[in-house]
Amino acid sequence: MVGQLTTHERQLALVILTVLAVVGLLTLIVGRGDPLGAQGVLVLLMALGGIFFVISRYFEPEPGADRLERYYDEPCKIGILLAMGWAVFGLFIGDWVAWLLVYPDLTFDAGWSSFGRLRPVHTTSVIFGFGGNALIATSFYVMQRTSRARLPDQLSPLFVLFGYNVFCVLAVTGYMMGITQSREYAEPEWYADLWLVVVWVTYFIVYLRTLARRREPHIYVSNWYYMAFILVVAMLHIVNNLAVPVSLAHAKSYSLFSGVQDAMTEWWYGHNAVAFFLTSGFLGMMYYYLPKRAGRPIFSYRMSIISFWGIVFLYMWAGSHHLHYTALPQWVQTLGMTFSIMLLVPSWASAGNALLTLNGAWHKVRDDATLRFMMVAAVFYGLTTFEGSFLAIRSVNSLSHYTDWTVGHVHAGALGWVAMITFGAIYASVPWLWKCEKMYSARLVEVHFWLALAGTVVYVIAMWNSGIIQGLMWRTYNDAGTLAYSFVDSLVAMRPYYAMRAFGGLLFLIGAVVGCYNIWMTIRAAPATKAEPVADRTDPVVAATPVLAPAE
Ligand code: HEM
Ligand code: HEM
Repeated sequence: MVGQLTTHERQLALVILTVLAVVGLLTLIVGRGDPLGAQGVLVLLMALGGIFFVISRYFEPEPGADRLERYYDEPCKIGILLAMGWAVFGLFIGDWVAWLLVYPDLTFDAGWSSFGRLRPVHTTSVIFGFGGNALIATSFYVMQRTSRARLPDQLSPLFVLFGYNVFCVLAVTGYMMGITQSREYAEPEWYADLWLVVVWVTYFIVYLRTLARRREPHIYVSNWYYMAFILVVAMLHIVNNLAVPVSLAHAKSYSLFSGVQDAMTEWWYGHNAVAFFLTSGFLGMMYYYLPKRAGRPIFSYRMSIISFWGIVFLYMWAGSHHLHYTALPQWVQTLGMTFSIMLLVPSWASAGNALLTLNGAWHKVRDDATLRFMMVAAVFYGLTTFEGSFLAIRSVNSLSHYTDWTVGHVHAGALGWVAMITFGAIYASVPWLWKCEKMYSARLVEVHFWLALAGTVVYVIAMWNSGIIQGLMWRTYNDAGTLAYSFVDSLVAMRPYYAMRAFGGLLFLIGAVVGCYNIWMTIRAAPATKAEPVADRTDPVVAATPVLAPAE
């Protein structure tokens, strides 16, 4: 990795790491007596580890000038490995949390392992650790290929990748120490948030600089989706995390918002995180890897663009469906509900576009588990968005809200859509990146596929059942007009479903471990070759797009 950096870049890396080490040291000093001090120790250790790593390889030969003629795939490779590492960790914690709901004593009497702390460890690890690393890695890959341009330099993409993982580590370890802002999906405190702003702005700049250097006149649709993901996540992150720390020596901060404005800001963020992190970025992935693997042009390129603008415009207004029957004005709730229903149109346009792209390639779907991962992802994307639009209807939400139905919806999207499209993209990318003909074992990809599908179906069916039973039990009255069931009655009724969900999660986790083994064995046997030269001809996926010329 260091061997790919020029001497100047190695020096710059040492400067950045030294600044980080100093920041860690200062945080440790001023924050002693507060959990912030422990986070300082972590930053210091990570920075020192980085310094040691760079120095130990400092005198390796510099890369030749011919590097500029080749794609720069190092960050893509590392990103994929990190994504798989976070997947196994995050799924393991998810399954632990699931068993915890069946056997509440699984905390072993420790604070760090309580449900309230492990739950955000799970959500952050899978969404940001697994999903985020996969998005960064594939966005770098796709942008280079579809633009026929190399990343602008060697250091900044690595800074984005490692900086982002420093954020994830700070977040996850912070929760276990009890540090949290208590804003769902935005739990990390102010100092980690500030760091993420630096990293994320760099990411956007790297993206724009590469696009500016493109040799392909057309900006392929995947790049639009990835760009919306980067830009909107920056906007959401900054606004939702506006806060004042108690002092520079404390981890705790207070939000700038209060009351119902606070709730609205949080769910404007929360739902758009679903839209731009869990949807837009992964659609970018789908629009490149699915046609590429199927060897078919996108069924309708125009529809993919219309769907892009539909999603960008409509999602922004849908967040208030999380706040039905609250102090939020009724008209704002109705606005969120209406836009959520309209969202079905662009969402199904993308799901349908993906499935229609497979026309003429269904025999490949039958034989190739990698393509089948992507096909199933498109099906679950269609299912989840239909369910979401339905749950957003106020009267339906009065039954589903606070119940496991929401958790079922989330995981139909998370496992069926996000994880499946990611595994498909990773299985497609690994042989391309490491220059092997194929994965070590196609049979193990098949095993992973069936474990993942079985795990998802078991998980989602368990949660649909438990959610609807919960909702109905909570609103059943007896003849005397009082509630027929106590809350504890509903908990007892949930137990078999919680066990079923935990079992489904276990299957999903085992599948991911099988995937890691298969990837590792593929890489081990890979020849030590350089990345391919920047193409002098348009990527076939881009070449298949109709020429979009302005009207005369
Ligand atoms: C048309 C698209 C979609 C709509 C209209 C929609 C709508 C909804 C609604 C109404 C809720 C429940 C709110 C509540 O009762 O608290 C919800 C929750 C959620 N949805 Fe969707 N959804 C959509 C697509 C997706 C997709 C593709 C994912 C991807 C994983 C997803 C992830 C989530 C998550 C994570 C939550 C839980 C939020 C929480 O923590 O409470 N949604 N969605
Ligand atoms: C082994 C697979 C998994 C298992 C067993 C699992 C388990 C769980 C459990 C037990 C919860 C807490 C539910 C509650 O509070 O009642 C949860 C929440 C959540 N998980 Fe997972 N999970 C898995 C995979 C994933 C993946 C891959 C993602 C995202 C890519 C994900 C995203 C989420 C989200 C967003 C929530 C919050 C849901 C909400 O607030 O409604 N999970 N998960």
